[in-house]
Amino acid sequence: MPRLQLFDSHCHLDCADFNEDREIILEEIRENLAGVINPGSDGASSRYAMELAHQYPFVWAAVGWHPEEIARCTEEDMTQVETWCTDPKVVAIGEIGLDYYNDENAPHDLQKKYFIWQLQIAKRTGLPVIIHDREAHGDMLAIIQKEAKGVTGVFHCYSGSLETAKEFAKLGWYFGFGGSTTFKNSKKAREVLAWVPEERLLFETDSPYMTPVPFRGKRNKPTFTELVVKNAAELRNTTVDELIKSSTKNVKKLFFRVK
Ligand code: NI
Repeated sequence: MPRLQLFDSHCHLDCADFNEDREIILEEIRENLAGVINPGSDGASSRYAMELAHQYPFVWAAVGWHPEEIARCTEEDMTQVETWCTDPKVVAIGEIGLDYYNDENAPHDLQKKYFIWQLQIAKRTGLPVIIHDREAHGDMLAIIQKEAKGVTGVFHCYSGSLETAKEFAKLGWYFGFGGSTTFKNSKKAREVLAWVPEERLLFETDSPYMTPVPFRGKRNKPTFTELVVKNAAELRNTTVDELIKSSTKNVKKLFFRVK
């Protein structure tokens, strides 16, 4: 039995940042967490996530193309993503979405094309999606309202307004919170975290990125999910145990292939 029945619903163990000590990190997860979900960002990382998921019973994979990688994405890649969805250890399509923050990313129209394509894969396969939305909140809301009927999923590291969060919540979506909610200057994310209904709440690290306080600046790792939950318990005026219980229930409900 792991020390905590807690999931890290979003981490990137496939990243080169873990090349030196991936085995040690995985052993730490085995001892301390109920499990982790590793989304891919392109073809190679999705395949690697699936390999890890088959090697370790407490790892699950999501497959898909991240908006920052869309410039390299082809229609054949979409066919491959859809084929991978039959794998029982693939629990979601992700991470997918829109990223307008960096001008070097693919043009918005191309990002939208592949985002909508992957939403359609979700619709056909019945799998949930893991969404990345950076500085694209308007287009994101429009696409979710128009193109995602019958699809559900999580906004990972949610960074939109409380107002938009309420719209997504009405449509049945979940919200993932990570290290950024431990930063005192993340007022918006902390406000949304304080508001989100408990049955829509997930926790994550996005490791190796987004390291929570007090380790900000160092590499992040899945066991730091506990720090995110401690901070959330304070913000929401509840207990760590209660949040572990409810968020784990939410992981198993949303990502229904997770056992
Ligand atoms: Ni991520």
